[in-house]
Amino acid sequence: MSAASHNAPSDSYTGPRILILDFGSQYTQVIARRVRECQVYSQIVSWKTSAKEIKSQPVKGIILSGGPASVYAKNAPHVDPAIFKLGVPVLGICYGMQLMGHHLGGKVEHSTEREYGAGKFVARAGCPLFKSLPRTLDVWNSHGDKITKLPPGFRSAGHTENSPSAAIEHPEKHFYGLQFHPEVAHTPRGREILENFVTRICRCPQEWTMGSFIENACEEIRRQVGNEKVVLGLSGGVDSSVAAALIHRAIGDQLTCIFVNNGLLRSREAQVVQRVFGDHFHVKLKYVDASERFLSKLKGVTDPERKRKIIGSEFVRVFETATRELKAEEKKSGGRGSQYRFLAQGTLYPDVIESVSISGNPAALIKSHHNVGGLPERMKFELVEPLRQLFKDEVRQVGLQLDLPREIVHRQPFPGPGLAVRILGEITPERLRILRDADSIVVAEMKASDWYYRVWQSFAVLLPVRSVGVMGDERTYEYTIAIRIVESMDGMTADWVRLPYDLLARISGRIINEVKGVNRVCYDVSSKPPSTIEWE
Ligand code: XMP
Repeated sequence: MSAASHNAPSDSYTGPRILILDFGSQYTQVIARRVRECQVYSQIVSWKTSAKEIKSQPVKGIILSGGPASVYAKNAPHVDPAIFKLGVPVLGICYGMQLMGHHLGGKVEHSTEREYGAGKFVARAGCPLFKSLPRTLDVWNSHGDKITKLPPGFRSAGHTENSPSAAIEHPEKHFYGLQFHPEVAHTPRGREILENFVTRICRCPQEWTMGSFIENACEEIRRQVGNEKVVLGLSGGVDSSVAAALIHRAIGDQLTCIFVNNGLLRSREAQVVQRVFGDHFHVKLKYVDASERFLSKLKGVTDPERKRKIIGSEFVRVFETATRELKAEEKKSGGRGSQYRFLAQGTLYPDVIESVSISGNPAALIKSHHNVGGLPERMKFELVEPLRQLFKDEVRQVGLQLDLPREIVHRQPFPGPGLAVRILGEITPERLRILRDADSIVVAEMKASDWYYRVWQSFAVLLPVRSVGVMGDERTYEYTIAIRIVESMDGMTADWVRLPYDLLARISGRIINEVKGVNRVCYDVSSKPPSTIEWE
């Protein structure tokens, strides 16, 4: 299935766009984000997308991404050559530029001087890609092949030390190629190059804003749902919270959120969700306290995978019961009892596009267990996924525009199985109490020192080991808390944060003094890979 058809059903935005053909570069999503930062809608589609499919959409320009292949390799992904006849501007980046050269009659060869890393690029004066930029630019290279003979009609648009044609252009046809990566942070003026392409060359109107997104999305939700009712599993995380606020804006009381307390939440979590959604937004909220049910199923269980499985399947059961109850309540109050046809989910754009990458991105696999899988199939819901066009930072902007508090919009990720994967070994009420108390201190100190919003995650983990300590005159024999604080772009890789010692000292001191049952605190100094962020 091509990404274009994959995306089609819930694309509420029908305006002009830049299409990015994905050849498997690790940076494809970054290109899409950079384009959107220019307030132009960008859509990632598979490299297999045909010129005919492209023609059926309001495409103002095409970007061919980079990719790991060589154009002359046996199984190299190729572009439908008809796209060069659509009359639409094309920008090829790295592999994308080589493809363009290859298909339009140039010559691509393996280069003996592989260019990797930072370099200097000198632009040809007058090339519209580099308008308003200095002639010499710092750029980031990562390629082994290069174009050695330009296709007819092309000329060099700039050079580096090793490449006389590090950028190329065909001014009449509006075809451009860049051997370096304008999308990455190591090309500091790269965003402006992409902006020149989308606004000056493609003449794309800059009308993709979160305000216009909200309006469109609300209309689309109303159109999809009609008079029916929607149920949404609210976890308190950013995605489901923003989805709830958006759908509520669109259809008000036709939405009911179900919040399941599985007994594995952090301190005050259930209250915050009830306060924000129930009291502030007046969203219909069904609060299900299933703590005892979860904890009794988890009694005696120590294996991490079994914990996850139990929590996952219990969640489905609790959710099913809750929706049955909703239907019954509706019937009682004179309705049909069959109106909850729709299930809303906070699926984001990266969840949708990962599945079309040619490189068989393992990220998609790792994530599958994180979603509340299985619900739609078992329960025969139709899905409402109003965020499936957005990146996380866009979701946050939507959340802020919908008046969600920062506490929710900028909240750190929290795993579905909750504290269960942060208590190593058996989960008991006492261990939960200890971890909650320790975790609250970590969060409070991180917020007070302004570090909380600067890191990806910061939390406490309870280790099932006891060690000897001394308090006053007494010997103690108590639990150990590990502190895990990491920075990351997307959770796929992570590094431990070099937190100031005095902050670490404060956290440790407070935990040992205030949390009964703990006499030792350690700081986790492992990065991912090879460690994971969560301990289980
Ligand atoms: P790991 O531990 O795999 O975590 O390095 C990567 C990111 O995913 C989060 N995580 C989960 N999220 N359900 C979720 O919704 C889960 O089962 C789960 N396990 C890990 C983790 O907090 C980190 O942000």
